[in-house]
Amino acid sequence: MHSTMRYSIFSTLVAAADIAAAQSNAPTDAFMQSCAAFANNTQIPNSTFSTATFVPAGANLTFPNADPSCTRPSQLVAAAMCRIQANITTSATSEVSFEAWLPQNWTGRFLSTGNGGLGGCIQYEDMDFASSLGFASVATNNGHDGMSGQPLFQNAGVVEDFVYRAMFTGITVGKQVSQNFYQMPPTKSYYLGCSTGGRQGMKMVQDFPDLFDGVVAGAPAMNFNNLNTWSAHFLPVTGSNTSETFVSEALWNLVHDDIVAQCDDKDGFKDGILEAPDLCRYQADKLLCSDTVVAPNCLTQPQVTTVNTVFSDLKGPNGTVLYPRMQPGSEKTGAFPAYYNGQASDKSDWIKFVVQADPNFDLTKFTPDLWAKADSLNPFDVATFKGDISAFQQRGGKLLHYHGTMDPIISSDNSPRYYEIVRATMGLEPAQLDDFYRYFRISGMGHCSGGPGAHFIGNQRKQLADPNKPEDNLLMNMVRWVEEGQAPEVVTGVAFVNDTQGGEVAFTRNHCRWPLMNKFSGSGDPNDAASWQCVPYANTI
Ligand SMILES: *[C@@H]1O[C@H](CO)[C@@H](O)[C@H](O)[C@H]1NC(C)=O
Ligand SMILES: *[C@@H]1O[C@H](CO)[C@@H](O)[C@H](O)[C@H]1NC(C)=O
Ligand SMILES: *[C@@H]1O[C@H](CO)[C@@H](O)[C@H](O)[C@H]1NC(C)=O
Ligand SMILES: *[C@@H]1O[C@H](CO)[C@@H](O)[C@H](O)[C@H]1NC(C)=O
Ligand SMILES: *[C@@H]1O[C@H](CO)[C@@H](O)[C@H](O)[C@H]1NC(C)=O
Ligand SMILES: *[C@@H]1O[C@H](CO)[C@@H](O)[C@H](O)[C@H]1NC(C)=O
Ligand SMILES: *[C@@H]1O[C@H](CO)[C@@H](O)[C@H](O)[C@H]1NC(C)=O
Ligand SMILES: *[C@@H]1O[C@H](CO)[C@@H](O)[C@H](O)[C@H]1NC(C)=O
Repeated sequence: MHSTMRYSIFSTLVAAADIAAAQSNAPTDAFMQSCAAFANNTQIPNSTFSTATFVPAGANLTFPNADPSCTRPSQLVAAAMCRIQANITTSATSEVSFEAWLPQNWTGRFLSTGNGGLGGCIQYEDMDFASSLGFASVATNNGHDGMSGQPLFQNAGVVEDFVYRAMFTGITVGKQVSQNFYQMPPTKSYYLGCSTGGRQGMKMVQDFPDLFDGVVAGAPAMNFNNLNTWSAHFLPVTGSNTSETFVSEALWNLVHDDIVAQCDDKDGFKDGILEAPDLCRYQADKLLCSDTVVAPNCLTQPQVTTVNTVFSDLKGPNGTVLYPRMQPGSEKTGAFPAYYNGQASDKSDWIKFVVQADPNFDLTKFTPDLWAKADSLNPFDVATFKGDISAFQQRGGKLLHYHGTMDPIISSDNSPRYYEIVRATMGLEPAQLDDFYRYFRISGMGHCSGGPGAHFIGNQRKQLADPNKPEDNLLMNMVRWVEEGQAPEVVTGVAFVNDTQGGEVAFTRNHCRWPLMNKFSGSGDPNDAASWQCVPYANTI
């Protein structure tokens, strides 16, 4: 339905009585009828088509036309909702694919989900998670389909969508659609995303501070230009898997054990998890082969150099840090297949398709001194590294930033750098920043999920500590902060035996907010979060 002509902020089709019925748990008939009626008048500006479809609880949606690289062929839907789909034109050369999931049991809240990598993919699992918690939830495909960076090649419209516009469009249209459907504006608006989704959340905080009351931003891909230089620099550092600089996965496991041996006791307890990897200034030199220690239990000098380079900050010609080192500890949570396997990967697509603008660019030829090109290009300020977030503070916004300290894709060393930039730019001390911006390190968590630490923090449904209590999660902690003024002091995480969600609890841990670090008290059960304390660094070193 081409709805541009009929668009009007104040006109609605849905009868108030239907809405009232829908908000209670009255028969779904009224809600179904509301959704069917809405299908005739979704009122989405600049859309080339739109639909509204009632989806009952327990439905298994399938997405046969979705790009296979999105790896989301189906989604089980937990709560009844009206599903809106639309394609919205954003420029002469770009459009976004948009969805809003409007739950029958609406709480009055609005939420936008985010994307991942260079994708291209609606995160249906997050849509379901949020709409089942009563949020009117929206998502877009971020302006293109699939995980490849190819659609960004020589298309400024698609790049602009990727940087901010798809997100901005999804949110502004989504709020309007929600208002038209429920006949009242959202009471509060939230954002939940990780990785690229973390960057998108930060972008909204920095550039569109009025959109959200609460933003949960995980492992944000901020400092984006230099992040991509850093991502592309691993291949020249490791070389191909036949070069003398190459370090095999088995040797990386050796390095990991050496890191744990050297650094794990800095938090007071040896459990294979570094609470503060920033205290670990790891050098691999002790693993150098000698007369007594020989292959495969040691590293050659070129291999030592490779490892030490990976754990060194990437610096520009004048010595400024472009992007921090890989944080030590992440050797077994996916860093090898992501960066160390001696092969070009799609993690370098931004460099290939946007910076070099050459689909045939040989990534083995990439040298870090090309960073200046990536940095100066900075389309639509994709860097997303502005320290002044005072507009967000002044509108009463709350920002919950988290990052796994075993993240193998985006070094968690970059996150405290952002915190410190905000602190320096705004001239605020942590006690003042605590009012509106809190950063939590999630020890032993990989990239947005997984890892040996207490990573079940409820940032996604698959990360819930108690799958039977979906309401007990990071997002609802944010809601409590925004709506009741109760800020999270810690983020509690659970680790399960064999990483089996909802199974036998291995240990719990209260993840501390920056600039505090988690330290074992020295007595009590180390598996009990209460045996650990958040302490200032000065008390630990
Ligand atoms: C939607 O519009 C069509 C064509 O105008 C009409 O036949 C149909 O009854 C409408 N459906 C609802 C639920 O209003
Ligand atoms: C529709 O698109 C036009 C041109 O791209 C733009 O100027 C306008 O703001 C859009 N309308 C809405 C309501 O977003
Ligand atoms: C949903 O449907 C798809 C495709 O038929 C199927 O592969 C998948 O297992 C189904 N999911 C559930 C939870 O039933
Ligand atoms: C809407 O966009 C999706 C995703 O890009 C595309 O697959 C689909 O063909 C589009 N639908 C219409 C009707 O244009
Ligand atoms: C509707 O949401 C409320 C909380 O907002 C919850 O207590 C209730 O169980 C939900 N009802 C259904 C049918 O999901
Ligand atoms: C080395 O890399 C090539 C591709 O460049 C791959 O085909 C081969 O399987 C790799 N060998 C090992 C031992 O990983
Ligand atoms: C070093 O280079 C960076 C990146 O171009 C620049 O921002 C910074 O101002 C330079 N610092 C000095 C001291 O020249
Ligand atoms: C964990 O996995 C091991 C090895 O597969 C198994 O023996 C053990 O029973 C599992 N424990 C739990 C609680 O699932």
